Amino acid sequence: MRIGAVGENLLERLAVRLRLGPRPLLETHATLLLAQALMVATKAGVIEALAAAPLTPGEVAARCGGDERATAKLLGVLEATGYVRRSHGRCALTPDAQRWLLGGSPHSLRDNLLFRFVEWSWIGRLDDFLLSGRPLDIHAEMSPEQWGAYQRGMRSLAASLAREVAWRTKVPRGARAMLDIGGAHGLYSAALCRRHPTLEAVVLDLPAAVEQAAGMLEHEGLGGRIAHRAGDALTDDLGADAFDLVLVSNLLHHFAAGQSRDLVRRAARALRPGGVLVVQELFAPASARRAGQAAALADLYFAMTSESGTLSVDEIAAWQREAGLRPLRPVRFVSFPGAGQQSAVKR
Ligand SMILES: C[S@@+](CC[C@H](N)C(=O)[O-])C[C@H]1O[C@@H](n2cnc3c(N)ncnc32)[C@H](O)[C@@H]1O
Repeated sequence: MRIGAVGENLLERLAVRLRLGPRPLLETHATLLLAQALMVATKAGVIEALAAAPLTPGEVAARCGGDERATAKLLGVLEATGYVRRSHGRCALTPDAQRWLLGGSPHSLRDNLLFRFVEWSWIGRLDDFLLSGRPLDIHAEMSPEQWGAYQRGMRSLAASLAREVAWRTKVPRGARAMLDIGGAHGLYSAALCRRHPTLEAVVLDLPAAVEQAAGMLEHEGLGGRIAHRAGDALTDDLGADAFDLVLVSNLLHHFAAGQSRDLVRRAARALRPGGVLVVQELFAPASARRAGQAAALADLYFAMTSESGTLSVDEIAAWQREAGLRPLRPVRFVSFPGAGQQSAVKR
């Protein structure tokens, strides 16, 4: 998937083909504005205002406590982008908006979009990263409010993937104990526990994360079958022969290679024989030549906000092999192109 200058009619398509369209203008001014329009429409309640019935821009403005003219302009962008449809002066949500933006949808990315306000300031510091090469230490600098937005944002992203994770994760027969390292909201643990009735999970995360995510775990209604453990994956003793399944989802991209290698080694030690270590990530493409735009942007984002970048399946499998595990064929998710699992079994 990519974003960029796409002609909307024959003349524009020709202009793009002939390199006449001001492509960098669209890729900077327009993308900045589009991102803010979606973020603000979400935050101000414009999307939710349209949940029940089509409204005029004046009615939307009244419900959101906004200015009518400004709201009409914002709705114009949502319409042109395919999130709103207008008929007889009234605006309604399109199926895309109902699926991705409405808070009540099972696929809602509403909370993830609200987390963009936190990321906005991080991304604005790209020039510092370019000059110094020093990444931001996001986990050390967030306020409690930002931690809350972070956890809610991760949870909403996980919600549309949890079902596929539950079905496709290789869980040993009769598995009883799972460790979810950097598991935050615990949604993947909850989905796996529902699918495997004998399974119980410990969700290990930093204390600031656990504080914000405790209510999310409670909301899953699995009682004592899932519990948070506040700690640090980089330094905690993970034990030995204690778990049938260890999940490390979207965590290794925060760590330097040496830290990841060490965590994989300690996770392998924590497994019982026959146990499975699942590393779930947005994978780096096999070769830089085949990297798409979204993958390259993710690689830059992870590099500037923490210690790593996207990781390749081969890199992860090599750490697993070094830790004495037998790597399995990678799983590529259907519901999140580019993401997947590299699992390995303890002999
Ligand atoms: C990108 S989120 C992924 C959350 C969840 N596993 C998922 O896939 O949706 C990374 C999580 O790792 C946690 N984390 C970062 N550094 C950690 C550390 N040193 N020890 C434990 N958890 C850590 C963060 O607090 C955050 O909840």
